[in-house]
Amino acid sequence: MLRSTLVVAGLSAIAVAQSMGISQQCISAVAGVAADPGASACLSTGSLLAIGTTSSSASLVPVINNWLTSLCGQPACSNDTLAAVTKNITSGCTTDLQAFGFSQDMTPAITQYVQQYYPTVRKIACLKSGNGLCVTQTLTSVEGLTGPLSLSAIENNTTAITKTIATLPNNITCSDCIKASYNIIEQDVPAIASDLKSGAQEKCGAAFVDGASVSGISQTASTGSNSNSGSTNGAHGAFSFIADGLKLGGVSGVLALFAFLA
Ligand SMILES: *[C@@H]1O[C@H](CO)[C@@H](O)[C@H](O)[C@H]1NC(C)=O
Ligand SMILES: *[C@@H]1O[C@H](CO)[C@@H](O)[C@H](O)[C@H]1NC(C)=O
Ligand SMILES: *[C@@H]1O[C@H](CO)[C@@H](O)[C@H](O)[C@H]1NC(C)=O
Ligand SMILES: *[C@@H]1O[C@H](CO)[C@@H](O)[C@H](O)[C@H]1NC(C)=O
Ligand SMILES: *[C@@H]1O[C@H](CO)[C@@H](O)[C@H](O)[C@H]1NC(C)=O
Repeated sequence: MLRSTLVVAGLSAIAVAQSMGISQQCISAVAGVAADPGASACLSTGSLLAIGTTSSSASLVPVINNWLTSLCGQPACSNDTLAAVTKNITSGCTTDLQAFGFSQDMTPAITQYVQQYYPTVRKIACLKSGNGLCVTQTLTSVEGLTGPLSLSAIENNTTAITKTIATLPNNITCSDCIKASYNIIEQDVPAIASDLKSGAQEKCGAAFVDGASVSGISQTASTGSNSNSGSTNGAHGAFSFIADGLKLGGVSGVLALFAFLA
C-alpha cells in the first residue's frame, strides 16, 4: 500500500530526526507543515520522506535532487503560506533554534526575510545546467572531495566537511552554475551582490561578475499560480496521520496507528 509505505517512510524520518536530537515539539511542527495542503504542495515535502528510508551512510544528494525537481515544478508558495510555515516552525522549534541565537520576538523579522528572499533562493535552487540541476551538480562535485554527503557523515564528520566546503577549489566555486546564481542575486538583491562582488572577482576573475547570461544554464522554477484546490494526496494524508499521532500521544501513538494501517 502506498499509504503504508509513506507512513513507514515518515516514521523512519521521525526516528532519524530524534536520533539527531531534534525535539518532539519541533518534529510535530515540521509534520504539521508537511500536513498542511498549501505548504506541502509548494515545498514538495512528500518527496523528503525518502530521507527516512535512505541508509545513514548513503548520499542524500539523490533525495535532494528528487525533492528540488518536484518543488521546482510546483507553483511558488504564497506569502501567507510562508508566514504560516515560519510561525509554526519558530514556535515549535524555539528550544532547538535557541542554539543559533533565536528568540521568539525575532519571528516577525524572520518572516519578512523569508518572504523577501524566498523567490531568489527558489530561482537559484531551480537552476539547471544541461539536463541536471545546478545544486545536484555542485553537491556531486563537493562529494568528490568530502565523500558521500550522508546523514552519518553530516552528523559524525561535520568539522571535516565544513572545512572542505570553506576551501573549495575554483573549478567548483567559479562554475557556470555559481555564476548564474550570482547573476540572480545581482538582479534580485543588488545590495548583497555588491558586498560579494570584489571577493567573487578576486577569486573567479572579472568575467564571473560581468552579469552576462551563462549559456547552457536554464531556469526551471514553475511560474504557475496556485490553483488552491486544497486537494489531499497520499503524502498529505500520511503526514496528517503522523501529525495527529504526534499530537495525540507521541511516536507510540503513531506506531499504534501504523500497526492498524498495516
Ligand atoms: C500551522 O499550524 C496550525 C495549527 O496546528 C495548522 O492548522 C496549520 O495547517 C499549520 N500551517 C502550516 C503552514 O504549517
Ligand atoms: C511578499 O512579501 C515581501 C516582503 O514581506 C514583499 O516584498 C513581496 O512583494 C510580497 N510578495 C507578494 C507576491 O505579495
Ligand atoms: C577540479 O579540478 C580537479 C584537479 O584538477 C579535478 O580532479 C576535478 O575533477 C575538477 N572538478 C570539477 C568539478 O571539474
Ligand atoms: C570525513 O571527511 C574527510 C574530509 O572531508 C574525508 O576525507 C573522510 O573520508 C570523511 N570520513 C568519513 C567517515 O566520512
Ligand atoms: C555516527 O557515529 C556513531 C558511532 O560510530 C554511530 O553510532 C551513529 O549511527 C552515526 N550517526 C549516523 C547518523 O549514522
